[in-house]
Amino acid sequence: MKVGIFDSGVGGLTVLRAVRNRFPKIDIVYLGDTARVPYGNKSPQTVVRYSLECAKFLLDKGVEALVVACNTASSYAVPALRDYFGVPVIGVVEPGVEEALRLTEGKVGVIGTPATIRSGSYQEKLKEAGVEVFSKACPLFVPLVEEGLIEGDITRRVVDMYLKELKEAKIDTLILGCTHYPLLKREIQNYLKDVRIIDSSDAVARALEGIIENEGNSSTELFFTDRSQNLDFLIELILGKPLKPTILSEGVPKV
Ligand code: DGL
Repeated sequence: MKVGIFDSGVGGLTVLRAVRNRFPKIDIVYLGDTARVPYGNKSPQTVVRYSLECAKFLLDKGVEALVVACNTASSYAVPALRDYFGVPVIGVVEPGVEEALRLTEGKVGVIGTPATIRSGSYQEKLKEAGVEVFSKACPLFVPLVEEGLIEGDITRRVVDMYLKELKEAKIDTLILGCTHYPLLKREIQNYLKDVRIIDSSDAVARALEGIIENEGNSSTELFFTDRSQNLDFLIELILGKPLKPTILSEGVPKV
């Protein structure tokens, strides 16, 4: 089975890694829209348009299911993608929320890009289930990861700046609502001590059980719309091996 995964950039490889670990045989086509990253500070209309274009590119490659790795795209574009394309579309928000509801004792924190937090996608679903929710946009986490600063003094200071309120609120569970944040998990966990941390990449991989079959040739194809700085370094950091990406210097076709 061929599965398409897209993200605004490189961070969605954390979702690819989780999906690959759970489904070793499937064929995966990954698209990272590195020419237009970040999505996290764009308007909803732009995020939906970019998402439709990314999805169309993957559908043209013959994928039979779409995983929206990007939390920002998952927050705005899943209904449009479902309307537009006739394949299963799985975003990261619902699996992350379900996992949080399974584990929490009643106080959940959510962190993400400004657009994800502004959308209220996580907060609404959590509140509907009756838990107390504390949310925080953490825009500097993305460039920290892209610079490879996944630990150390600067990262610890930024973690403290963003997560202080959540720590003081005594959350018991935290959803990492952004593709890049799993790479900061160690620093976040050190700071929040006993808080349960939910990596939405693992949650989405689990949610694919029953939707996709573990069949295929175990191929992984990586496409990016730009050779962004640190691309090869980040591919190896996240996937644990150097995989050669194909660069789409013309970008993806308009829908
Ligand atoms: N992939 C985005 C997300 O998960 C983070 C990077 C961006 O802002 O595009 O929300």
